[in-house]
Amino acid sequence: METRVLPFSDGAIAEAARLIRAGEPVAVPTETVYGLAADATNPKAVARIYEAKGRPSFNPLIVHVSSLEEARTLADLGPASLALASAHWPGPLTLVAPLRRDSGIASLVTAGLDTVGIRVPSHRAVQALIRAVGHPLAAPSANASGSISSTRAEHVLRSLGGRIGLVIDDGPCPGGIESTIVVEADGKLRLLRPGPITTGAEAESGPRIESPGQLASHYAPSKPLRLDATDAAADEYWIGFGPLAGQSNLSETGDLVQAAARLFDLLHRADRSQKPRIAVAPVPELGLGAAINDRLRRAAAPRQ
Ligand code: TXA
Ligand code: MG
Repeated sequence: METRVLPFSDGAIAEAARLIRAGEPVAVPTETVYGLAADATNPKAVARIYEAKGRPSFNPLIVHVSSLEEARTLADLGPASLALASAHWPGPLTLVAPLRRDSGIASLVTAGLDTVGIRVPSHRAVQALIRAVGHPLAAPSANASGSISSTRAEHVLRSLGGRIGLVIDDGPCPGGIESTIVVEADGKLRLLRPGPITTGAEAESGPRIESPGQLASHYAPSKPLRLDATDAAADEYWIGFGPLAGQSNLSETGDLVQAAARLFDLLHRADRSQKPRIAVAPVPELGLGAAINDRLRRAAAPRQ
């Protein structure tokens, strides 16, 4: 795939919005770092973010919206969070809050969690893009998995060139450090990731939950889960893949992007079903399959 770089302009934003509506991720600068943005309500588009980054596991992504009002349609912000939002939005502050049931956010964005990280960025390019698309944008930092964040279009090109269609170039990011992440729990603010904004939130005591994706319990269904199931017992809800049909199928055509997009939804469905156990068909350890299998192994791991 050829990666185009377009300097920021109304036309460039219109083209980026067209690609995002078609389900493609696009790199766009924010005031912190360049983000790789996709429509947060489109599960396949979100799966493409992981595919482009080559992320070995699904970490929850930050949802970018244009205003506090829009944020409140997606998450239930507590009083301390609202005060912080009024003081610092638009700006490099991410608030983690309970996801509203009617949010329309794809479950791959939150990696199946019942909370969501949200921020209202101040940078003109990402603001213009959110408005042009008309949907919230999920965006991790625009770099290949395991490499450092990008603060210039040329960093994005070096890291993701050939893997994405478009980079909007609006010069170096003014901030360069990822947003401060804060969560409100029991009326108190906790700092999940230090960043440009000092909030007075207490740092996490004990191990930081910087990547809740790494905690097996966040993803584990309530039922035992069996991997590599080429058939299923009568008491198992079978999640299929490809020709192994199952009761529901990650992707009938064996498409890993589609499988990633459906993964958390199907795990929820299996957990809610009448069957006391879950079985999952084998998924090849290729491309996005590695991330899917990472999540499935965590879901199958014995509970602590
Ligand atoms: O400045 C930034 O925040 C940049 C720009 C692009 O907005 N984005 C960014 O995204 O740094 P990323 O994916 O590289 O880091 C997101 C962090 C991860 O550490 C993730 O675990 C945390 O946000 N996060 C997202 N949703 C969360 C949630 N529901 N609970 C706890 N942490 C969450
Ligand atoms: Mg990152």
